[in-house]
Amino acid sequence: MNIPEHVAIILDGNGRWAKSKGMPRTYGHTMGAKNVEKICRCAGEMGIKYLTVYAFSTENWSRPGDEVGAIMDLLRNYLKTCKATAEKNNMRVRVIGDKSALAEDIQRSIAELEEFSKDYDGLTFQIALNYGSRDEIKRAVNAILSEMKSGVIPEGSEITEEMISAHLDTAGIPDPDLLIRTSGEERLSNYLLWQCAYTEFYFTDVHWPAFTGDELKKAVEVYSSRQRRFGKTGEQVS
Ligand code: IPE
Ligand code: IPE
Ligand code: MG
Repeated sequence: MNIPEHVAIILDGNGRWAKSKGMPRTYGHTMGAKNVEKICRCAGEMGIKYLTVYAFSTENWSRPGDEVGAIMDLLRNYLKTCKATAEKNNMRVRVIGDKSALAEDIQRSIAELEEFSKDYDGLTFQIALNYGSRDEIKRAVNAILSEMKSGVIPEGSEITEEMISAHLDTAGIPDPDLLIRTSGEERLSNYLLWQCAYTEFYFTDVHWPAFTGDELKKAVEVYSSRQRRFGKTGEQVS
């Protein structure tokens, strides 16, 4: 089987899963967070090198305050336990997104966790928090502009694709090979727009808290049976 090097997941359907069980949406988020740990372990065992999950979007701030608060509290707890998980699974953890808008204690926990886990060389686990692809591209372009002003990049240089990629939050990480979205929605919702230029997409009706290691294997099998082209013809691709 052809194992994708980088899998990105849009974790969707926590609320609908909870509702189907007669429970509040926040219960769905709690169980969804637990599932992230399980899927990280499975991904590492399958030989996937990079896993990037969409946990909170720049648009998710517009949800009711109590739901946002509950998600942030879950995140606080998750970041606390994640050191032990990183150690156990030989996992490097990185956060992508605009961290500056997160609460200061959360920013501190992220910095600590990233530093603590930076030399683990099993799975690289990226969490997208306060992440929006358009915001990421905007920040990258502004960073390039300020480097031009300060002379780090010679003024008047043309902006290249490589320059943009190198200023994204995902700099140095290969583009996703496979993107999975759970819970039946078939859109990107502002996730990794630049990086998914040639990514294969896989959609499933299963809600995120119910997404198992076997579901991940199924997605990888479907991916493995596909022929990727990158703009070439079917004859050119072997
Ligand atoms: C995904 O589940 C988690 C986040 C976006 C934070 P949702 O909360 O979007 O669940 P549904 O889509 O409303 O069921
Ligand atoms: C996308 O899910 C964001 C995350 C999974 C964090 P949403 O549930 O917020 O997206 P829409 O609103 O259905 O597009
Ligand atoms: Mg949703």
